[in-house]
Parts: sequence; structure tokens; C-alpha cells
Amino acid sequence: MEIIIQPNAEEASMIAARHVARLVRDKPNAVLGLATGSTPLMMYRELVRMHKEQGLDFSEVTTFNLDEYVGLSPEHPASYHAFMWDNFFSHINVKRERVHIPDGLSSHVPAFCRKYEETIVAAGGIDLQVLGIGSDGHIGFNEPSSSLASRTRIKTLTAQTREDNAKAFGSAEKVPFHVITMGVGTIMDTRHVIILAFGEKKAEAIAGAVEGAITAMNPASILQMHPVATCIIDEGAATKLKRTEYYRWVYDRKPEWQKL
Ligand code: PGA
Repeated sequence: MEIIIQPNAEEASMIAARHVARLVRDKPNAVLGLATGSTPLMMYRELVRMHKEQGLDFSEVTTFNLDEYVGLSPEHPASYHAFMWDNFFSHINVKRERVHIPDGLSSHVPAFCRKYEETIVAAGGIDLQVLGIGSDGHIGFNEPSSSLASRTRIKTLTAQTREDNAKAFGSAEKVPFHVITMGVGTIMDTRHVIILAFGEKKAEAIAGAVEGAITAMNPASILQMHPVATCIIDEGAATKLKRTEYYRWVYDRKPEWQKL
């Protein structure tokens, strides 16, 4: 795993945006795996800027989002459909028919999840997956003890995650219990994973994911087995890592052609 520690969330987000932009320029019909939450917001803002000011073209891009709350319509302001359109899709030229977000109102969840997996495969697989991380180490909504081989399915949120996500709903009690999420195995099938984490609240989860043993108790730790994983974090999220000097040393010595 490549560990990139930046002075703040903004600079970390710029690097993530440059990764996405480079892919989209090199492969205009790239398939992006996208995340919601506060973490990727600055990255989306920068990609919108690149679209508006530099003509970054998303017209042939296909997207798959990681997850959605069960029971929320796309119009619900706390739904991840609303989040993605408000913060990203409405501001770029992505085609609506190329956007895929799990359907929180699906009448047959297992059938929907199977179809979601098939649609990813039919699109050629995900080239680049952007991830946040939960304070409990979840990726997507794969909570601790999730199968590390899991596929898209229904999951139940932990009390911690419902607490963490309370803001969008007004209170933790209003956060749905169930979600549809891409599985850990689905995420592991993507060609490149970028995991972002900002702030000390994420420090323990990041330390476990990067330097801990691989365990379903910290689902992000499976990224140690991913062939191309890039972990981009700020100083706060790096506070519990033991080998920060080494990671900085490696990053400073990257060959010119690898730099973004
Ligand atoms: P956050 O959520 O970006 O809002 O911190 C991350 C996550 O739960 O994966």
C-alpha cells in the first residue's frame, strides 16, 4: 500500500482529484467507484473545478456508488443519491444513464444486489475506487465482522456508524438500520483503490488498516492484499501510525514519472 501523508485534508483531496482526472483523461470511458460522506467532498469540488475550468470530460465515464440507505427514496435529502447529485453529478457532464447508485427502495434486495454486481462486470469492472473509512474501519458500509469476500448485499449499521452519520438525519435514532453496500470482495476486485481519511477520529482505524493484522474486525485492513492501493491521509489521521517517517521518505523519493 502506498501511504501519502499530507499537511491537511485539502492537499490530500487535491492528490486524489488528480488521480481521478488523470484516469479520465487517459481513459475517457473509465469506470469510477465513488463514495459519499464528508471525506470525498473536497475531491469532488476540485473535480468540478477541473470540469468547469479545464474541460475535464465525464461524458463517457460510468460510475458506481458504494452504498445507499434502505428505505430512502432518491429524493430524500439524506440519501446518497441526493448527496451525489448535489455535490458532484449535477455539476459535471456525466450521463444520467451511466450513473449507478444502489436502490434503497428496491422491492427485492437480493435480486437488486445480484444485478448491481452484474452491471459492474458488464461495464468492464471498476478502474478506480474512491473510499472513505469509518471510525470503526468500515469501507463502504462493510462493518467490522463483514466477510472479507462479501459481495453487494444488505448490511445492518453499528450503533457507532449510526451515531457518526446522525448529522444528515438530525439524530442517530433517525438513521436507517439497513443499507445496501458493495461488498469487501467487490471493492477488492477494483483495479485501483484510493482510501482517504482526515482527522484524528480516523487515526485508530487507519493505523489498524495500514499497520495492523488483516482482520474482518477492521475491514479496511484487507486493502493490504489489494495490488494497487493508495492511502491518502492528513496529519490527524496519521497520528497513530508507527512508520510515518518511512512513508514520507518513500513519497519524497518517488520517481518523477510517478508524481502527480
Ligand atoms: P465520513 O464517512 O467521510 O463522513 O467520515 C466515511 C465512512 O463512513 O466511510
